[in-house]
Amino acid sequence: MTIDVLTLFPEMLQPFLTASIVGRAQQAGAATIRCTNFRDFAEDRHHSVDDRPFGGGPGMVLMCEPVFKAVDYVESQQEGRPTKILLTPQGERLTQPIAAELSREPWLVIVCGHYEGFDERIRTGIGAREISIGDFVLSGGESAATVLIDAIVRLIPGVLGDDSSAECDSFSNGLLEYPQYTRPRDFRGMEVPEVLLSGNHEAIAKWREEQSILRTADRRPDLLNRTGLIE
Ligand code: ADE
Repeated sequence: MTIDVLTLFPEMLQPFLTASIVGRAQQAGAATIRCTNFRDFAEDRHHSVDDRPFGGGPGMVLMCEPVFKAVDYVESQQEGRPTKILLTPQGERLTQPIAAELSREPWLVIVCGHYEGFDERIRTGIGAREISIGDFVLSGGESAATVLIDAIVRLIPGVLGDDSSAECDSFSNGLLEYPQYTRPRDFRGMEVPEVLLSGNHEAIAKWREEQSILRTADRRPDLLNRTGLIE
């Protein structure tokens, strides 16, 4: 998969892109992630990327020209048509099924907004899917891009050492993950549930499934409605 990130702050993304699972995915050739700074596509000698809003009001608005030009540029660098994503708190909320869907795309172009907002014609004109990572406002799309890329890249087949570890994650089956334990068996009087030490794989699977359902019912009952486990 190729991911192009259009941003005014590539330096915010670089350390994230080279570390941990995302870094390993790139080293293994499962993902190529490139950053393009749309300030490089600004027209004037000050390299302006934003301007005051028509009609007045506070703050600055990201201009069309540098963003459209940067999108045209990255699209011209490779055969095919990318799936474009615009990160904005007004987009559809990111979920595990959306991350899974995007992980199957060969090429993504992610546009990060910044400052107070962007010209509406960016929203309407570049043909991007609008995605929000949650109901809160960030200073820009860069931190949202790291969240989105992480959620997507770990689902590319072969990226996690053991493919089943993504299948066991919270949300992958619509439920929260069951509790996990490792050594020691007794830590400061807190003991590991007996069943996990039993070696009985059937009993362990049953316990984990129950725990997953109980935990979801306790913390996120809204998710159970969606799985069809309760009416
Ligand atoms: N940009 C600013 N806030 C955002 C959010 N919640 N999700 C995605 N992009 C954003």
